[in-house]
Amino acid sequence: MATVQEKIEDLKARQEKIKLGGGQKRIDKQHATGKLTARERVEKLLDPNTFVELDQFVTHRCVNFDMASVNAPAEGVVTGYGTIEGRLVYVFAQDFTVVGGSLGEMHAAKIVKVQQLALKMGAPIIGINDSGGARIQEAVDALSGYGKIFYNNTLASGVIPQISVIMGPCAGGAVYSPALTDFIYMVKNTSQMFITGPQVIKSVTAEEVTAEALGGAMTHNTTSGVAHFVAENDDDCLEQIRCLMSFLPGNNLEGSPVALNTDDVNRMDDSLNTLLPDNPNQPYNMKDVISSIVDNGDFYEVQPYFAQNIITCFARFDGQTVGIIANQPSVMAGCLDVDASDKSARFIRFCDAFNIPLVNLVDVPGFLPGVSQEYGGIIRHGAKMLYAYSEATVPKVTVITRKAYGGSYLAMCSQDLGADQVMAWPTSEIAVMGPAGAANIIFRGDPDVKAKTEQYIAEFATPYKAAERGFVDQVIEPKETRPRIITALSMLASKREQRPQKKHGNIPL
Ligand code: HXC
Repeated sequence: MATVQEKIEDLKARQEKIKLGGGQKRIDKQHATGKLTARERVEKLLDPNTFVELDQFVTHRCVNFDMASVNAPAEGVVTGYGTIEGRLVYVFAQDFTVVGGSLGEMHAAKIVKVQQLALKMGAPIIGINDSGGARIQEAVDALSGYGKIFYNNTLASGVIPQISVIMGPCAGGAVYSPALTDFIYMVKNTSQMFITGPQVIKSVTAEEVTAEALGGAMTHNTTSGVAHFVAENDDDCLEQIRCLMSFLPGNNLEGSPVALNTDDVNRMDDSLNTLLPDNPNQPYNMKDVISSIVDNGDFYEVQPYFAQNIITCFARFDGQTVGIIANQPSVMAGCLDVDASDKSARFIRFCDAFNIPLVNLVDVPGFLPGVSQEYGGIIRHGAKMLYAYSEATVPKVTVITRKAYGGSYLAMCSQDLGADQVMAWPTSEIAVMGPAGAANIIFRGDPDVKAKTEQYIAEFATPYKAAERGFVDQVIEPKETRPRIITALSMLASKREQRPQKKHGNIPL
């Protein structure tokens, strides 16, 4: 019979073997492609020495196609919990060195266990994906595993933040768990996502495309809008995730962590008084406004490469996390289109689900006209913004810097869509449409069209008609924006808004 000491030595030996995953040769291959291993990723993501591994000894029970002889350490996925900046998070990291990180019944069961723990404990979950997809030998058991993960992703949606990290191939149904989560990170050159890969596409549609062009990091960050963040490499990616987590609460019943604020809450910025060109048709960079007003000029942009006509970002005012949605006049004049509507509506809903106040910076000439936009369903996509803002019960502060025309004025969170405070710069033009278009319709054929257009601009291309009706609460000097927003958010901190009971709404999709 083994002694106690021998049993302890046996445990250590087993653990060491498991930690080697698919073996040194495969680890070297992983490193050679510029990727960290699953365990290295978890260690770098979490605070030092906080990772507690679960289910190290779980194994598959598949006997199909010689699988009985296949040893899969940790079942190809490292799972457990630890902390980021001292706050509890759950993690799983697929280990590509073990059967290609493929997902079978027990691999999925390990992921589901941490999903359920995260949900019960009200803590975020971060999933690192690096996998060949469904473990082919396990057939329907693998599909069932994915199904359970999708189901738990959906249960957790809006309850705990769910972050997906793509750090390798992610094919077939494997892409749908990330798609059900809140944010997707991808790494340049080493991560891909697609439903069907280049080979299948070539055989079905005869299109020839590389894996990178089809589903690489920049494809999903610029073209499809599937991903939210891009990283240069694994290290950069893990660092970015820690930054994101610093803005977020653990769950939907908590507020975000309040950071120590070292920036003057009464700070005014004279440069804002001269930022806007005198000609309202000339662009400026809305990011200059954002960096001027938020704490220390720091903001973390979500989907910076997709639908750049609208900016979505996390930032802080007096240490408090906010979500900023801002038109970008330097891209497509800040028009709202299909992609901008989807991007902002989803961000608004994330912030609302997790008690993050919304700050809206408005300079929008309208929804983008065009046959492709109409055929693309701008009506139902634009409706998502109306829905998301109307549905949101978090504090909502809107600052109109310049144009706020027609439906897009409403869609950028006007008072009627529930903005708690609307401020307007004196440069604001809050009107049913732009002056030229309006004059063209109501003064058509009038011999005094020029004079009347001037009169229209003087009377209607201002914030004062809206202010006369109380649709604008305050007309402010641009330089005052930061202290005014901070005061408004402080006033709104105790906001409680009840809505009619319902199973769930039916947002236009
Ligand atoms: C079982 C797999 C596997 C899988 C990879 N491996 N994918 N084993 N099931 N899905 C194994 C390989 O056999 C190999 O084992 C090891 O992992 C490493 O794979 P390589 O091919 O050598 O690596 P690489 O050249 O880097 O190519 C990676 C890859 C390729 C592009 C991911 O492995 C690949 O195309 N895999 C299959 C992808 C796929 O079609 N998945 C099924 C998708 S369908 P050895 O022992 O030789 O080292 C799907 C449906 C889900 O996921 C539906 C859910 C609703």
